[in-house]
Amino acid sequence: MDQSTLPPHVLIFPLPLQGPVNSMFKLAELLCLSGFHITFLVTDHIHTRLLKYSNIQSRFERYPGFQLETISDGLPEDHPRSGNGLMEMFDSLKTKNKILFKDLLTSGKLNLDSRRPVTCIIADGIMGYTCDVANDVGIPIIFVRTISACCLWVFFCLPKLIESGELPFSDNDLDTPIKSIPGMESFFRRRDLPSFCRSGNLWDPSLQLYLPESTENPRAYGLIINTFDDLEGPILAQIRTLCPNLYTIGPLHSHLKYKLSVDSSSPLTSSNSLWKEDTSCITWLDSQPSKSVIYVSFGSLAVMTKEQYMEFWYGLVNSGSRFLWVIRPDSVTNNSSEIPLELSEGTKERGYIVEWAPQEEVLAHNAVGGFLTHSGWNSTLESVIEGVPMICWPYFLDQQVNSRFVGEVWKLGLDMKDTCDRLIIEKTVRELMDGRKDEFMNRADQMKKLAKQCLSEGGSSYCNLERLIKDIKDM
Ligand code: UDX
Repeated sequence: MDQSTLPPHVLIFPLPLQGPVNSMFKLAELLCLSGFHITFLVTDHIHTRLLKYSNIQSRFERYPGFQLETISDGLPEDHPRSGNGLMEMFDSLKTKNKILFKDLLTSGKLNLDSRRPVTCIIADGIMGYTCDVANDVGIPIIFVRTISACCLWVFFCLPKLIESGELPFSDNDLDTPIKSIPGMESFFRRRDLPSFCRSGNLWDPSLQLYLPESTENPRAYGLIINTFDDLEGPILAQIRTLCPNLYTIGPLHSHLKYKLSVDSSSPLTSSNSLWKEDTSCITWLDSQPSKSVIYVSFGSLAVMTKEQYMEFWYGLVNSGSRFLWVIRPDSVTNNSSEIPLELSEGTKERGYIVEWAPQEEVLAHNAVGGFLTHSGWNSTLESVIEGVPMICWPYFLDQQVNSRFVGEVWKLGLDMKDTCDRLIIEKTVRELMDGRKDEFMNRADQMKKLAKQCLSEGGSSYCNLERLIKDIKDM
């Protein structure tokens, strides 16, 4: 077959975690809509869960050019791959997966007669080794980041923080301002740095993992970031000093929805969940007054102690607000079953608890007026695009940075980091859902409008996706 008539063949390799896999499937579908052939590379661990809980097969059946490919992350199937096990996963990817990745690319297995050899690789920029392999096999690579630009810029500035002596710090005054991150000098404190910066130890594994970002990421042909110019413009300008060829095409989940609503008749609801969604919460929301419910969810990785869990229960019940709370089965350590009577009574009256929710649908629901979130980037973008104000209780990694921007820069909510006290939770919920409701609703509505504009024809994310498609076609 004359391969030059075939469309570009892109291999997409996301970081094998729920959040990143979620957004990479959206990018894959956006490229399928442009007629590209896609090989979506997932680890065996992710693959088994996707088959169990998501509608991936039916969803991509209508794209003949789409194929799922699996690869090992080098860990045993029962490895937790969360909490402290995360670092082992990163190490295993860098050592074992790197070899398997190169074997796959040189095996010829991907170049079935119906598709060209891989034209371009799109991989998560935290897996810098993929660039080494891409250069070895002579295939162009574009890095993608599923975290915020503001957090990525902090990662790029880690060497500056060390040179200036701002890292590591050993005293526990977390309100000390941070001065050596260009563009953040006026509002950024130690407590807003990624959580691993608090270890006081230059050899902290996470610090060592993110330290090379400023030299690794500029090596790729370009950098795709799941954000939009109106939200992170000033920080994107800083990143361009290192990576001039940026493709800001987010929010990816709504970019896809927009394209599907314009391009095709039957937009399927997309679920790439790694857990079973409990849709009974939508029925419960249907019977709640408009904007009266605070949705509570801490993403797919965060865990909390039994004590923290009780503080949130008391804070939510005592706030008097209605609440829809996602409590993942593995998210409370040392959990014992007994719940005090006043909490179960309060929940019966005003609350609803599920193990996993259809979050995009929940945030779009008219009954939801606020989001108590861990500030994971996908959750943050999903809240921004639906115009839902936030209370931020960051757990780790990029979440500390995101929560500072939500509270201090974008003013889309309240940053409740580093506290977990029932009285503060109660007060903060009342402030967001009642006292300052109109103020935050207006701010959130303005940003929602800007987000929607950037996705429509002529908008920044719309044009950057067009440019990405053209650049890959020209490869
Ligand atoms: C991880 C990191 O923790 C986060 O800091 C980083 O920004 C992205 O990678 P995660 O913790 O899972 O992500 O949070 P988040 O980025 O918010 O992704 C969670 C995803 O799960 C969201 O797309 C959300 O819609 C979905 N979700 C969450 C559900 O579908 N149902 C739920 O009940 C909860």
